Amino acid sequence: MQRLTRIADLRDWLAQQRRLGKTIALVPTMGALHEGHMALVESARQSCDLVVMSIFVNPRQFGPNEDFDAYPRDLDGDCALAQAHGVDAVFAPATEEMYPHAAGPLILAGRQANMLCGASRPGHFDGVVQVVCKLFNLVQPDRAFFGQKDAQQVAIIQTFVRDYNLPLEICVIPVVREADGLAKSSRNVYLSAQERVQAPAIHQALQLCRDRLQAGQTPEAALQAARAHIAREIPGSRIDYLELLAWPDLLALQDSDRSCIALAAVYLGRTRLIDNITFQR
Ligand code: PAJ
Repeated sequence: MQRLTRIADLRDWLAQQRRLGKTIALVPTMGALHEGHMALVESARQSCDLVVMSIFVNPRQFGPNEDFDAYPRDLDGDCALAQAHGVDAVFAPATEEMYPHAAGPLILAGRQANMLCGASRPGHFDGVVQVVCKLFNLVQPDRAFFGQKDAQQVAIIQTFVRDYNLPLEICVIPVVREADGLAKSSRNVYLSAQERVQAPAIHQALQLCRDRLQAGQTPEAALQAARAHIAREIPGSRIDYLELLAWPDLLALQDSDRSCIALAAVYLGRTRLIDNITFQR
């Protein structure tokens, strides 16, 4: 497996591979790899000749009081895991390699970025779109793989790729969960033992919301039941948002909408967990 930190080396290696006619998949990550990331790798391997994984904790998508410094980092462990899963090249640049200059022209992620996670993390999705755009330009993949775990991120990137006519295909992989339903996340390591036991209630609440809606309740009643479930099962938690929207536009649910998403962000202590389920009404 190639382990690359320089843009010039990445480009040289990619040029050689392209001359051999290889198709390229990109799996962008911030490291602290787990089975959720590996599901993206498995799919990427099945659909392209070569898999490039980027590992870069992108400072521009973290707010001033967020966990950029504390974000779990283990590049050697990540590379070992990536290699064991058949990744062909890891691109892990230093911050100065990705951002040698102060911010220049900004891409604003638009309407879908100001709601949900974007409401409590201003500028977060602008930073995501910026780094993803750079990675697309650097790697020029045939396909890029993203997890449904970050549903809003998926919706925003799909809109960006469509609006800017980027020549690649976005592939979306279902949420990978622990046996008890908790969505796998690099941030789960922050949970205390008690919080870890309580955390699956978020997924349960989303399922409850779906079941109530499918049983004919109003969105408001379904959301109310879900909120009550979280309050009961995770006392002391704080719901950042819990919403039912049309998927993938992330617009308010109309009676005519069939494709829905229930999404939540919940603080357990200082740890903010997100989860979602998509379904047909
Ligand atoms: P990161 O949180 O490392 O996630 C990398 C990719 O793995 C994302 O597409 C995410 O949705 C996916 N992923 C994480 N947990 C998952 C799970 N349990 N099931 C399925 N997929 C999962 O998302 C980012 O990094 C960054 O914002 C990035 C896109 C790399 C830009 O910096």
